[in-house]
Amino acid sequence: MTQKVTKAVFPVAGLGTRSLPATKAVAKEMLPVVDKPLIQYAVEEAVAAGIDTMIFVTGRNKNSIPDHFDKSYELEKELEKSGKTELLKMLRELLPAHVSCVFVRQAEALGLGHAVHCAKPVVGNEPFAVILPDDLIEDGQRGCMKQMVELFDKQQSSVLGVERVDPSETHKYGIVEHTAVAPRVGRLQSIVEKPKPEVAPSNIAVVGRYILTPAIFEKIENTGRGAGGEIQLTDAIAALMQDETVLSYEFEGKRYDCGSKFGFLLANVEYGLLHPEIKAEFAAYLQQRVVNI
Ligand code: G1P
Repeated sequence: MTQKVTKAVFPVAGLGTRSLPATKAVAKEMLPVVDKPLIQYAVEEAVAAGIDTMIFVTGRNKNSIPDHFDKSYELEKELEKSGKTELLKMLRELLPAHVSCVFVRQAEALGLGHAVHCAKPVVGNEPFAVILPDDLIEDGQRGCMKQMVELFDKQQSSVLGVERVDPSETHKYGIVEHTAVAPRVGRLQSIVEKPKPEVAPSNIAVVGRYILTPAIFEKIENTGRGAGGEIQLTDAIAALMQDETVLSYEFEGKRYDCGSKFGFLLANVEYGLLHPEIKAEFAAYLQQRVVNI
């Protein structure tokens, strides 16, 4: 029986230390790129991939995330009263009616593998997506997760979104070795979490997009603490690979690491240049500004 990906897990309990002080009181997933919080882009990407159940694995100080996806009665009433119908429409369309949100609490920050495992009771025995909202991916069309779901639909195997990074940056990522099986698609041979450049098996990095079969949960349960003393999803995937095919997929599109200040700034520039309301004015400003650097 072929299975469908209908659920996405968003691990959003992280502290966002790389973006302090902005993230002292604000969830890092709520930082806006132009006018939308990162978590909204992540959910839109999942919706575009046909996913209808959003599972947020949250922690302390993250109440703004459920608030963002809840109906805001007071705000809607105010907008209605003042005749701001366009804004009202936009607010009501933030989450399509067929989509439901589930919030699970990660009581202790024990790592990405642990966070994903917290979603097990909601995911059940189905394949599911994992989206890390820090990694914002712009492909100008259907979205990165949709590309991955299309591959999953054909292959029924776990899929990891990957891209080549500068060899000096391997210590920031899960790094894979694969054998090519089709354009953009590889079969995983090995995966290791955050290796130093001198021992990295390649420069092919896992970005924050995964489709996993439910067998991953048992692998996480048997995964001890790995890099950084955390229960790593990467280590559980290394174990999964022994039993099942795991594919790597070099997605089409550009990724912005919004967990870093520089990546976040780049994303704002690029999304600003795409935004229908401000792009012309912003492009004119940038053109004039670069001359004066
Ligand atoms: C996590 C994963 C890592 C992956 C990265 C992608 O690391 O552990 O394997 O390459 O996300 O963004 P983090 O960035 O949470 O330290």
